[in-house]
Amino acid sequence: MTDYEIPRPTSGDVVELILEDHRLFEALLRDLRDATADRAAARAALSAVLIAHGEAEESKVYPNLERKDAITDHEAEHGEEEHAEGNEALLALLECKGTDTQKFDDAVEDLATALNHHIGEEEQTILNPARTEVSEEVRADLGEKWAAERNRLLDADAGSIDNVRKIVAKAHEEGLLPADDEDE
Ligand SMILES: [Fe+2]
Ligand SMILES: [Fe+2]
Repeated sequence: MTDYEIPRPTSGDVVELILEDHRLFEALLRDLRDATADRAAARAALSAVLIAHGEAEESKVYPNLERKDAITDHEAEHGEEEHAEGNEALLALLECKGTDTQKFDDAVEDLATALNHHIGEEEQTILNPARTEVSEEVRADLGEKWAAERNRLLDADAGSIDNVRKIVAKAHEEGLLPADDEDE
């Protein structure tokens, strides 16, 4: 990676921390559309932060909000399905050899579509209950746990193409994604 320094907060309100990453995803998607940007570096940065962010939401945030009855199990599972769709689109982007091809541009737009949909829905249906149904103290506790797990995954290079392949394969096994022949 060249110019991209991914912020690594260690504490804060989980809602604010998650929103900051969502804005970072949008900035990185913009760079992926910019022919003058280092698009290989932007892709590597987006993969790293997207995987660390989503996996940490699934292990540290969604289950906790569910236990506190802030969100339903259906909302948590729907979030996981949308992560799986985003991860599948991310994998297609990582598999592009060149960054100045139509294939790359199409893969960026597919990922942008999946991601924009998910962050909109997550902000409305998961972060809103986190704002209103749990205390400031809980949000700070979840912020710390989520940030620690996100940083651990960033250190573990969770956004490498090999690991993204594993995550997508596991999502298929768990039925979070339609079978390959049903994708279109
Ligand atoms: Fe998120
Ligand atoms: Fe998410």
